[in-house]
Amino acid sequence: MKISVIGTGYVGLVTGTCLAETGNEVLCIDIDKNKVQQMQQGQVPIYEPHLDVLFERNIKAERLTFSTSLEEGITHGDIIFLALPTPEDEDGSADLSYVLGAAKDIAKLLKSYKVIVDKSTVPVGTAALVTHTIARQTKVPFDVVSNPEFLREGFAVDDFLKPERIVVGASSERAIELMKKLYKPFVRSGNPILIMDEKSAELTKYAANAFLATKITFMNEIANFCEIVGADVDKVRVGIGTDSRIGKRFLFPGIGYDGSCFPKDVKALHKSGKDAGYHFNILNAVIQVNNLQKTILMPRIDAYFKGDLNHKKIAIWGLAFKPETDDIREAPSLYMIDELLKRGAKIKAFDPEAMNNVKKKLGTQITYAQDMYDALTDADALVICTEWSIFRTPDFGKMKKQMETPAIFDGRNLYDLEEIKNEGFYYSSIGR
Ligand SMILES: NC(=O)c1ccc[n+]([C@@H]2O[C@H](COP(=O)([O-])OP(=O)(O)OC[C@H]3O[C@@H](n4cnc5c(N)ncnc54)[C@H](O)[C@@H]3O)[C@@H](O)[C@H]2O)c1
Repeated sequence: MKISVIGTGYVGLVTGTCLAETGNEVLCIDIDKNKVQQMQQGQVPIYEPHLDVLFERNIKAERLTFSTSLEEGITHGDIIFLALPTPEDEDGSADLSYVLGAAKDIAKLLKSYKVIVDKSTVPVGTAALVTHTIARQTKVPFDVVSNPEFLREGFAVDDFLKPERIVVGASSERAIELMKKLYKPFVRSGNPILIMDEKSAELTKYAANAFLATKITFMNEIANFCEIVGADVDKVRVGIGTDSRIGKRFLFPGIGYDGSCFPKDVKALHKSGKDAGYHFNILNAVIQVNNLQKTILMPRIDAYFKGDLNHKKIAIWGLAFKPETDDIREAPSLYMIDELLKRGAKIKAFDPEAMNNVKKKLGTQITYAQDMYDALTDADALVICTEWSIFRTPDFGKMKKQMETPAIFDGRNLYDLEEIKNEGFYYSSIGR
C-alpha cells in the first residue's frame, strides 16, 4: 500500500519506518527542512533503539522516502497518517492547531478517496472535527479514522512491530478494511485489532495514559508515607506487585511522572472532563501530587548544604526523561537544573543520548561531561534524574575518588540502601 505520514517525529518516524518494513511504500512529510534533509541523507534524527537498522534497510529498498511537501504526501498515500504534535495549551487542553491546520490543508489537496488517520493523541470528538474541517472544503470522498498510538519511547520499534493491541476507531467499512489489511502483518501472533467507534478510540488512549500516571502517582504517595513511618517502599512495591490484580509494572516511585505524554495527556483529559461538565477529582489529585513530587529532592539538597548552594559543584546523571531516549520534554532534570542554577550551583551533567538536546535548550548555563565519572570531578554532590542502565552498577570507589564529597540524591532509587551505606556515601532516595 502507499502510505503517507504527516509529522515525522518520535511517533511518525517509527510508524513510517515500521510500515515500510512490512512492504508498504511510505512517504514521510515534515515541516522541518533540516530534519527532512538529515533523513534524506540517511541519518535518523532521533535516538530510538533499533530504529537505525530498519531505517537504513527501507531507504535502501526505496520503500521509505522523505519530503517537506504536503502536496506530495497527499498525492502519494492511500492512507494518510497524522502524527503531529498535540502539546499542552495554556488552559491545559490539547492544542489541536497542528492537526486541524493539516486537515484544512489536506482538504485543498484531495483529488481522490483517502483515509486520514489520527495517530496523534487527540481529545474525544477530534475525528469528527477533522471530518468536518475537510468536508467543508471538498466534495472528494474520504474517511477519518482514529488510531491512537501506544508505543513507548525507548521500546518504540518493538512496540510498533509487536503491539499488544491496535485500536481502530472508525465507522466506514471501507476504511476499516484498509486498516485491517495494513496492520495484518503486525498481529500474526493473535493480538487483537480492536475496532470501535472514533470517540471510544480517542478516549482509550487518554484513559490508558491517565491510568498509568495515576498508578505511578499512587506509588509516589505510598513512598512519601513510607518515609514518614519508616517503611521501605521497595519492599511494599514487591509486596503489592506480586498480586496479579495489581501487577509489577508502573510501581516504581520517583520524582514524578514526566516526558512528552503523561503530563499533557492527564491535563488534557482533566480539561476535556471540565468542558463536558464532569470534574475528574482523581485526575485533579494526580496533577497536584505530581507537581509536588517533582520538587521533592530540592528541600533535601537545600538542607544538606544548609541552605547555601552558591558555587557548589553538582553532578547530574541523566537528562532524558527516561532511559533509552534522547527526549527531554518535561524531563525532571530540567526542573532540577533550573532550581540548582537559581541557587548559584555549578552543574556538570552527563547523559548517554540527551546532551545535545539539552545543549540546544540551555547552552553554556551548565557544562557537559565526557562520561559519567567526568561529571563527578570535584563534585559536592550527585543528583540522579534518569535510570540509565550504566548508572545502576557504577564503580563506587572511582566515584568517591572523583567527588569532593560522596553525597547522592537519587530520584530513581538505583542503589541498594545497605550497599551504598557500606560504600560510605551519604544517600537520599525516595520512600526508604
Ligand atoms: N512520543 C511518544 O512516546 C508518543 C506515544 C504515543 C502517542 N504520542 C502522540 O503522538 C503525537 C506526536 O508525538 P511525537 O512525540 O511524535 O511528536 P514530535 O514533536 O516528536 O513530532 C512531531 C513532528 O511533526 C512535525 N510537524 C509539526 N507541524 C507540522 C506540519 N504542519 N506538517 C508536517 N510536519 C509537522 C514536527 O516538525 C515534528 O517533527 C502527539 O499527539 C503525541 O501525544 C506520542
